[in-house]
Parts: sequence; structure tokens; C-alpha cells
Amino acid sequence: MSKLRLGVNIDHVATVRNARGGDTPDPVRAAILAQDSGADGITAHLREDRRHIGDADIDALMDALTVPLNFEMAATDEMQKIALRHKPHAVCIVPEKREERTTEGGLEVAREENQLAHYIAPLRAAGCRVSIFIAADQRQIEAAHRIGAQVIELHTGAYCDAHAEGNFEKRDAELEKMRAMSAYAHDLGLEVHAGHGLTYDCVKPIAAFPEVMELNIGHFLIGESIFRGLQPAMAEMRRLMDEARAT
Ligand code: PXP
Repeated sequence: MSKLRLGVNIDHVATVRNARGGDTPDPVRAAILAQDSGADGITAHLREDRRHIGDADIDALMDALTVPLNFEMAATDEMQKIALRHKPHAVCIVPEKREERTTEGGLEVAREENQLAHYIAPLRAAGCRVSIFIAADQRQIEAAHRIGAQVIELHTGAYCDAHAEGNFEKRDAELEKMRAMSAYAHDLGLEVHAGHGLTYDCVKPIAAFPEVMELNIGHFLIGESIFRGLQPAMAEMRRLMDEARAT
């Protein structure tokens, strides 16, 4: 089985920085440390309200990183302009609601198919790999494929929440849905990524899906790094991912 890539999402280093409004802790420093500690990519979400990552962070990440930047953004004109200016390795289109604490669900691609096809065309033409963050739903996967996305990222949040709540029936149902849909998307020719809410406790079943090429993990890793440091926190995640892959 191919090696699973670990993308480290550094948004919540910026959340802590912004709690005081100063310069520390610096998410770009965290990204460089993650890169030096074996991250295969860095993910950053420039939200419309700039609640964590800011424009200057994206400028600095583009300058500093040697691993690919996965630039998460909502499908707005402003974000499209920023992405076209930077041309990051990948652009991950996510739904965004102001009132939400985090990205709660996947993108409704099927309902917005024409607009999204039009929206991502210049990003693809600029050389960015376009990824769409969606639920494990056949209609959404087919729509993502039709609009020309190269990658889908499956939203693992419902699975992780069910696991944390001890609702194992729901957890297993979510897992089965993701298992079937990663195979389906892969057969269509899409590259499959997954992320949201992943922790040491729940990462392995997802990491074991052979079609999944990349996991993007942020909140748990950044939290865990308070206790262990970022490098050891990542090393343990890497170990669990590799173990799941080997069995
Ligand atoms: N992937 C996507 C598309 C996301 O929006 C997020 C959260 O910003 C993540 C992965 C990482 O989720 P978490 O911070 O819960 O690990």
C-alpha cells in the first residue's frame, strides 16, 4: 500500500496568537517545525472573517515552505483572487458559515455544480490541484468528479464525534460509508484525502483505507503539542498511521 501523507493544519496556532492580538505563537514557525519534523504538507484555512490564519500568514507560508501548501478556502471571489495570486500546490474548497465554530459539513457540490465548475476552472488552469471537502455521499462525489476536481477530501467529523461520544453503532456506520465512498471515488479517478476531528484514538480505521492518500490533521495535533511538543505529537500520529497502513 502507498505511504499515507500527513498534512498538518496550523490554523489553531493562529487561534492562540489571535487570542492576544500579537505575533506569538507564530503559525509559520509551527509550519516550518512541522515540515522539518516530517509533515508531507501544510494546510491553512484563510477564513473570510480571518479568525485564525491571516493574509500575511499565507504570504509567509508561500515564501517559507518547501512542502506543498494546501490552501483551504470558501468559494468566494476574494479567495479565488488570493489563490490565483499565490498559486499554492492545492486549493481545498470548503463550505464556510460565519456562525460555525469549525467547518461543520461538506460542500454541497451537487446543488452548485455549474457555479463551482466555473469557479474552479481558473484555479486548475493556474496549476493548482483542486480538492473539494465533502461528505461521503455518492451524489457529491459524482458532482465533484463532473466539475473537474482532482481530489476529494472526505469529512471525517461525524465519524470522530460518534467515536468520542461512544456511539459505536453510528461510528461504524459512518466508517462503512467512508470506506465504500473512498473506493467509489478512487474508481472514478479521484485522489482521496480525509480529515477533520482526527485523534490518536480514531485515526487508524481511516488510515487503513487503501484509497486514502492523505490525512489533514490540525486541532488535536496542535493541542497535543502543548503537552508533548509538536514533533513528538506528530511522530505518534505518524506511527499510528503507518501501523494502520501495514496491517
Ligand atoms: N481538512 C479540512 C478540509 C478542514 O476544514 C479541517 C479543519 O480546518 C481539517 C482538515 C482539520 O481538522 P482538525 O483541525 O479537526 O484536525
